[in-house]
Amino acid sequence: MAGRIPQSFIDDLLARIDIVEVVGARVALKRSGREHKGCCPFHNEKSPSFFVNPTKQFYHCFGCGAHGTAVSFLMEHDHLGFVEAVEELAGRAGIDIPREGPDTGPRDRRDEDLHALMATVAQHYRTALAGDERAKDYLKQRGLTTETVNRFALGFARNSWDDVLNTFGATPAGREALVATGLLIERDAQNARGAGHYDRFRERIMFPIRDARGRVVGFGGRIIDQGEPKYLNSPETVLFHKGRELYGLYEARQALRQVSRLLVVEGYMDVVRLSQAGIHYAVATLGTSTTTDHLNRLFRVCNEVVFCFDGDRAGRGAAWRALENALPQARDGRQLRFLFLPEGHDPDTLVGEEGKEAFEARLEGAMPLSEYFVKGLAQDVELDNVDGRAQLAEKARPLVARIPEGVYRELLLDRLAQEVRMPASRLAQLLGLGARPDEAGQGGGGLVGSQAATSSSGRPSRPRQHQMASAGRGNLVRQAITLLLQHPQAAQAVRDGGELDAVVRPGVSLLLEMLAVLREESLGTAQLLERFRGREEHAALERLAAVESLVTDAAGAAHELRDLYARLVVELGPGQQLDALLTKAADVGLSQEEREELRNLQAKLRPAAKAEPKTPKPR
Ligand code: UTP
Ligand code: MN
Repeated sequence: MAGRIPQSFIDDLLARIDIVEVVGARVALKRSGREHKGCCPFHNEKSPSFFVNPTKQFYHCFGCGAHGTAVSFLMEHDHLGFVEAVEELAGRAGIDIPREGPDTGPRDRRDEDLHALMATVAQHYRTALAGDERAKDYLKQRGLTTETVNRFALGFARNSWDDVLNTFGATPAGREALVATGLLIERDAQNARGAGHYDRFRERIMFPIRDARGRVVGFGGRIIDQGEPKYLNSPETVLFHKGRELYGLYEARQALRQVSRLLVVEGYMDVVRLSQAGIHYAVATLGTSTTTDHLNRLFRVCNEVVFCFDGDRAGRGAAWRALENALPQARDGRQLRFLFLPEGHDPDTLVGEEGKEAFEARLEGAMPLSEYFVKGLAQDVELDNVDGRAQLAEKARPLVARIPEGVYRELLLDRLAQEVRMPASRLAQLLGLGARPDEAGQGGGGLVGSQAATSSSGRPSRPRQHQMASAGRGNLVRQAITLLLQHPQAAQAVRDGGELDAVVRPGVSLLLEMLAVLREESLGTAQLLERFRGREEHAALERLAAVESLVTDAAGAAHELRDLYARLVVELGPGQQLDALLTKAADVGLSQEEREELRNLQAKLRPAAKAEPKTPKPR
């Protein structure tokens, strides 16, 4: 099989698979605090010192030092090549590997062409909107301002069967590209009108759907006023996968410097209307229920997700489905809540009526997943008879099985036991989970402190302490890189103002590169590491990723990184360079280039220039 595997695919793949499962299929693992441990398959040992960390999606042996991602593990353990390892993982996850063409990557170029085509057509729709009074009136009547219309790049597909066809489909290749992106529909020869093409979207308000990088990958089209179907979406294409994209995510990240909460709503209009009201963190799934893929994406952006549903029966059904899909993602440190709106309302109408503050107050009162889970399960169950208890067990078992084993699951079970007034041990038995003496000591207090996890013998595991003691050392650059590897999300906390761009110092350019990558895309530890596979620094990065972090939570990591970066700027940044140049000027004089550099630095350090907001780099 020829062709390069796109990096974005490796990202997605690592987000979908679980290293604990991959390793667990080959090595007997046992949970230990936040990690899983077992006897290292890479050297001979009797007592386990091999740890798999699900948060970092990374393994590490404290005995022999073996470490890496799920890809590395398969390469080492099954003696696979990189491509074979990826194929194995993709096979397990049941997904096909896209290839960027045999040699020079025509497939890659083709995708690029298709993206460019989508952008051009989106622009065409915008122009059409500007020239159509009825469409503009409709949007006005729905309460949208020009600013909002522009922010979401809304457009209009004219009432025509061949507007897009005639404008962009002059050549066979052009028509083929339009069919591939779902903008044209092909009619075959059996059709009464004979073979040909026609526009998919006609007389509709067009909502461009943009991917994480802002590229238009699809459209949603709403009929003006009445008609069926109300919304027409692009079909699945090479660019557009409904189960993955979230409408509004790109716009949210554009509008907010840091996204600390995401609200999942049902409709395009909800996202747009909320944004206009000042709630910029709403996203919508595209006429599908929330998939695990969606959730992965959401939690890569932030740790707080609120699902919003209509209060009617359909809404409650959708909410429970969302809960089912969310359970595998439920864990300590993540907040997942459910908001039910009054019947007959959606976020669009509600925020229009009551405004931002009142709507956000509703959000504050949203129901935590744990509560919804417990209430949902306890509902209609009569526990004073055997049937009722059996019924509860039937309902709960498949759901509990989806929650990752860990403190969070224990807490949920405790809550459920409380709700149904049953001893937790009894409930666990009922669910076939059995008692777990080795975790007995971990109760609810272990949420943050599970770093100090005890082994089943009750003693703190020795190698970890050893590692902890050596963590945090090293120079500032190294510390910052380590922190970034362990808590990639912290990158969002740093505003890289280019202060270090000119610094030539080992590691600095690597650090800046990592920051740039992470600012563009939210990656986990394993994904970040895979980005650097094949690079000189890869081995060193893997080592740093394996160092046990002293910082345990996202907020702490963000704070620490900001601090490190600020210290780096003081130590290496323009102030430092300026000093050096001024000293040199006084001592031996400056060359032409150095004088130029001095002028630049002085300009850069002028307070007025510094206070200027930095415009985000377009991608
Ligand atoms: P709604 O029917 O709730 O639409 O569908 P809405 O967002 O409130 O639309 P307005 O306010 O009437 O304009 C919610 C979502 O379900 C999908 C769309 O993604 C829509 O935004 N949907 C709905 C479709 O894909 N096709 C349809 O025909 C209807
Ligand atoms: Mn609506």
